[in-house]
Amino acid sequence: MSEAEPKLAGKVALVTGAASGIGEASARKLSANGAALVLSDINESGAAALASELVATGGKAIAIRHDVTQPDDWERIIALTVENFGGLDILVNNAGIPGDNTGLMDLDLSKWHSVLSVNLDGVFLGLRYAGPALEKRGGGSVINVSSILGKVGLPGAAAYCASKGGVSLLSKSAALEWAPLKIRVNSVHPGFVETPLVDQALQNHEDAAGMRELLVAAHPLGRLGQAEEIANAVAFLASDEASFMTGSEMVIDGGYTAQ
Ligand code: NAI
Repeated sequence: MSEAEPKLAGKVALVTGAASGIGEASARKLSANGAALVLSDINESGAAALASELVATGGKAIAIRHDVTQPDDWERIIALTVENFGGLDILVNNAGIPGDNTGLMDLDLSKWHSVLSVNLDGVFLGLRYAGPALEKRGGGSVINVSSILGKVGLPGAAAYCASKGGVSLLSKSAALEWAPLKIRVNSVHPGFVETPLVDQALQNHEDAAGMRELLVAAHPLGRLGQAEEIANAVAFLASDEASFMTGSEMVIDGGYTAQ
């Protein structure tokens, strides 16, 4: 590869939850690095707007309405990926939802299921349906977006923490199972990042401003993260620069879990 050639030239990447926040930033970064992008989201217009923008700036991208909790949607998006771009090399299982700050003694089973369904079932289904396409290419890279809350707990976030902890060990199991296939599987663990998801979670608190200050103070670097800072890690794990990394947990948290 020449110095000037983008790191992901010729690669095809599918990013779930690509219409907003970390997914959007990751899609932008992967596209800037030369990958063709399949943008998945239940927010079809948001994903379509990003696809148009990437194409207008010389990238390759398509947007597909896709609910990560639905096996049929996964079958369809993988088929469309192969049809449009010839295969799949990179899967970013990013789509996720927050809990609603409900204590365990008041947490409905339906609410528990809704969080687990998107954040954990969605990642399982991504692996399950994208796996054969990655294998066909002779290998690839899967990046599963977990959280610091997949490593440490938080009161009022039991379902979210359980889902993200599940993503860590699901990733490690997949990494071991697929190492012989040269499919690398890693998880990323962001601290609190300025995105609509965090805004929504803060709005569920009585004192949103006070809660925000507490969150900032919990990050030794003295601020929340930016989506681009997580996208940089996603792009690194997607590339051959991370060729000896699989089953790892990449923490990007301003020092939150160092304490
Ligand atoms: P966001 O709310 O800005 O974006 C999430 C996107 O996922 C949205 O576009 C939404 O429409 C989409 N989505 C939701 N349910 C979906 C479904 N069933 N199928 C397909 N798409 C769906 O959120 P953000 O902050 O960018 O989060 C992305 C990921 O990063 C999530 O997995 C989240 O748990 C994780 N994360 C976020 C952190 C943060 O502080 N923002 C910290 C650690 C992890």
